[in-house]
Amino acid sequence: NTLKALKYKGRLWPAFAPESIRGVETFKSRDGDAIVVAYPKSGTHWVWEMTRLLQAGKTDVPMIEKDDGMIEDVLPEKLESQSSPRALNTHAHFELMPKEVLNKKNCKLIYVTRDPRDVAVSYFNHHRKLVQYYEYKGQWKDYFPLYLSGKVDYESWFAYTRGWEQGIKDNPDLQVHVTSYEALHENTNEEVKKLAQFLGASTDETFISDVVKMTSFDSMKVSKGKNETFKGKDQTEAPIMYRKGKVGDWKNWFTVAQSEQFNAVFDREMVGTMAFELYSHTKQDQ
Ligand code: A3P
Repeated sequence: NTLKALKYKGRLWPAFAPESIRGVETFKSRDGDAIVVAYPKSGTHWVWEMTRLLQAGKTDVPMIEKDDGMIEDVLPEKLESQSSPRALNTHAHFELMPKEVLNKKNCKLIYVTRDPRDVAVSYFNHHRKLVQYYEYKGQWKDYFPLYLSGKVDYESWFAYTRGWEQGIKDNPDLQVHVTSYEALHENTNEEVKKLAQFLGASTDETFISDVVKMTSFDSMKVSKGKNETFKGKDQTEAPIMYRKGKVGDWKNWFTVAQSEQFNAVFDREMVGTMAFELYSHTKQDQ
């Protein structure tokens, strides 16, 4: 019951990009860069798409993939060749962020968090469908303990989240905008507007509502999903990065016992954090 991953700098990363991973160390940050930082399956594609449309100031832009801006997945020289302002993303833990980003503090970071139970379900489907990379064939009941103990690429959600929260606290001069998958769902217009303000982009009402429309789950599933490289083993499968796009799908997957087990770990690992404030009140839902 394990999945294939790449060990680098003491942590597990996805196995599919052994050549580009060095970019995590050598990345050259530029003024104007916006980097979406999130644990996998937290809405990275969604927020990255919003970010690049906001940066462009228009919604009529050529289709490119979120993974074209993924620091650990694109060769450094290719990232260098992109013109500014760049929309980038990474799932790196805070302490493994490219040094320049943390030292120069010239990039804008967009930190996205999501209910770790929905992340678990989404990540399970990701690992199962990308069997050609992860060679994972376990069932949900097998995957659940793997996720809880962080034996997946990017490791523990709990450690990732604590690390970023602490990193943001300890570095008040970093330019960081914090949002969550749930807030984006509940109040999409308002959240996109806040993101626009943070990026120094236009907050024109029509533009904001166009960005909201272009980045809706249904429209991204068609406009992006059809063309993205990451497809399931069977290339005719539904786009895997646009699975369900809902809040609370974990309730369809977690057993009562799994829910109790999850809550015990969540309480122990997260007490005193922002994530605890965000998600502990929904713990009783089942
Ligand atoms: P589900 O598997 O729960 O559907 P990431 O981009 O970080 O890999 O996150 C993927 C998750 O975000 C998936 O969750 C995916 O369906 C959801 N998602 C992708 N695009 C979205 C959008 N435009 N609106 C809402 N959710 C979206």
